[in-house]
Amino acid sequence: GSLYRFPVIPVKGVPLMNHIANNWDSIWAFSPHPTDLLIATYPKAGTTWTQEIVDLLLHNGDTEICKRAPTPVRIPFLEIFSPPPIPSGLDLLEKMPPPRVIKTHLPFHLVPPGFWEKNCKVIYVARNAKDNLVSYYHFDRMNLTQPEPGPWEGYINKFMRGELAWGSWYDHVKGFWEEREKRNILYLFYEDMKENPRREVERIMQYLDLSLSDDVISRIVELTSFKSMKENPMANYTFIPKPVFDHSISPFMRKGEVGDWTNHFTPGQSKMFDEDYEKQMKDANIPFRTLI
Ligand code: PPS
Repeated sequence: GSLYRFPVIPVKGVPLMNHIANNWDSIWAFSPHPTDLLIATYPKAGTTWTQEIVDLLLHNGDTEICKRAPTPVRIPFLEIFSPPPIPSGLDLLEKMPPPRVIKTHLPFHLVPPGFWEKNCKVIYVARNAKDNLVSYYHFDRMNLTQPEPGPWEGYINKFMRGELAWGSWYDHVKGFWEEREKRNILYLFYEDMKENPRREVERIMQYLDLSLSDDVISRIVELTSFKSMKENPMANYTFIPKPVFDHSISPFMRKGEVGDWTNHFTPGQSKMFDEDYEKQMKDANIPFRTLI
C-alpha cells in the first residue's frame, strides 16, 4: 500500500493523473509571456538533462546560480498539482517574472494554446521507445504519485496501447514532429545528446540566440554529464524524498544510457513490440537512429 498512486482520468482522450485532470481548465487557460521557453517531452525522455543544460546556458554556466533551487523550482512543471514537496506548476509560475523556462509532458494538442499564440520557443526531446519505456517503468515503481506500474509484461502492453499517464508515446513524438517547422520547435533526440553532447548543447545555444565562449560550453557539457547530475542535489531529485519518491526502489538518476532495454525485453517481447511499432510509426518518418 502507498499514500498516493493517483489514478488517471482521460482529458481529450489522453489519460492524465486526477490532480491534473481536475485542474484542467486553469492549465489550458495558462497564458505565457512571449519570452517564455517551453521544454516538452514524453516522461523520461531526457527532460531533466535538457532543463539543466538550458538553465546553465541562460546563466553563462554559473553553477552558483544554477544550484539556487531544485530543478522543478527553477523550471516549473506546468501541469503538476501533486502534493508537497513537489510545488504546483501554476502557483510557482504566478510568482515568477518572465522570461521563464517551463516544463511540460503534455502532448501537442493539449499544450495550452497561449504558447502558440505568443510564438514561444519550444524545445522537444524524444527518446527511443524501448529505453523510454524501461525508464518510465522504473520511475513508476519509485514515484509513488504515479499509477501502479504492475508487472513488467503488462507494462509493455499499457505503453503500446497508450494507457500510461500522459498517454501514447507514439502520438506524443509524432504530434510534435508534425508541427515542428510550422511552430519553430527545436526537436532533439536523447541518443544524439548521448552521442555528442557538445554538438547538441551548441544547437540549443543557437536556438536560444546565445553565444557563449568555448570554455563555458565545455563546462556546461561537463556539468550536465550523467555523473555530474547524479551527484548534484539540485538536479538528482533527492530533494523529493519518501513517501513521494522512493530512491531505494530505483534512483531518479538511474542509468542514463542508450540500449538498457536489452536488459529488460525478452526476445519474444522485443519481437511483439517491434511489430506493433512498425504499425504505429509507419508513416511517421521521424529519424530515430535506433530502436536499440
Ligand atoms: S522526467 O521525470 O520525465 O522529468 O524524467 P526525465 O528527466 O525526462 O528522464 C529521466 C531519464 O533521463 C536520464 N538522465 C540522463 N541521461 C543522460 N545524461 C544526463 N545528464 C541525464 N540526466 C537524466 C535518467 O537517468 C533517466 O533515464 P534512465 O534510463 O532511467 O536512467
